[in-house]
Amino acid sequence: MGAGYVHGYDDRANERLRDQARTLVDLLHHDTAYPAGSRVLEAGCGVGAQTLTLAERSPDAEIISIDVSATSLAEAARRAEAAGVTNVEFMQADVFDAPFEPESFDHVFVCFLLEHVERPVAALELLGRLLRPGGTITVIEGDHGSAYFHPDSEAAHDAIRCQVELQRAAGGDANIGRRVYPLMTEAGFDDVRVSAREVYVDSSRPELVDGFTRKTFTAMIEGTREAAIGAGLIEPERFDEGIAALYRTAEADGVFCYTFFKGVATRAVTI
Ligand SMILES: C[S@@+](CC[C@H](N)C(=O)[O-])C[C@H]1O[C@@H](n2cnc3c(N)ncnc32)[C@H](O)[C@@H]1O
Repeated sequence: MGAGYVHGYDDRANERLRDQARTLVDLLHHDTAYPAGSRVLEAGCGVGAQTLTLAERSPDAEIISIDVSATSLAEAARRAEAAGVTNVEFMQADVFDAPFEPESFDHVFVCFLLEHVERPVAALELLGRLLRPGGTITVIEGDHGSAYFHPDSEAAHDAIRCQVELQRAAGGDANIGRRVYPLMTEAGFDDVRVSAREVYVDSSRPELVDGFTRKTFTAMIEGTREAAIGAGLIEPERFDEGIAALYRTAEADGVFCYTFFKGVATRAVTI
């Protein structure tokens, strides 16, 4: 693993990822489905938040989902079994040392992984080698710089910057979404197409207020409290003011916006 993983593996982090996946399924997945018989590699599957959707949307594809965390894989496998999913195999593996033959997959799917690795282009190049020529890769990443909201709050932006700084210190990039196009292009893929997928939340969309503003974004920033204060990035009072301001955006007159970036490309025949 190229970098420490700052989000943590505790139950709250897992619950956050599950809530996020439920709320964002349509926004992120509506245009991803793999044909019957195709072999798909999901890299960095975590607790399987995307895996279940992939499996449901591509019931006749063969999906291999890998992650470095045995704990997360065990939870992913438990959830897949509970959901009756039969077309996914889970395997502990590092994308930088994956035990697969070159050109052995038709498609690769990566979600919220590159933000955590020190060398995202190298990760993409390695994943590209596992694709057959003409196979596709799909990359989904968020970008914390895309968060804006009403009422606006400098303290909230300060709290968000703590997460960005912690992730940078661990070798990652919480603002990587805006780099999806250049990263995929630099890694040598063809026909790179990136679309911005904005989550817009106001109180007329209560499931997003709860599932995204509160339980996904704000809970994620709040989860960095001890680390941010411990690293001397912010005073406790300022951090708490920022978190309160983020929760404030979930009230009746509040608005919260965040953009994910989804890139799809093909493996060039001559990589
Ligand atoms: C933010 S989680 C995303 C999980 C899942 N893709 C999702 O969308 O919910 C990032 C995952 O990448 C895994 N990871 C980080 N570096 C990795 C590496 N080098 N190889 C494989 N998995 C890695 C972490 O263990 C973690 O489970």
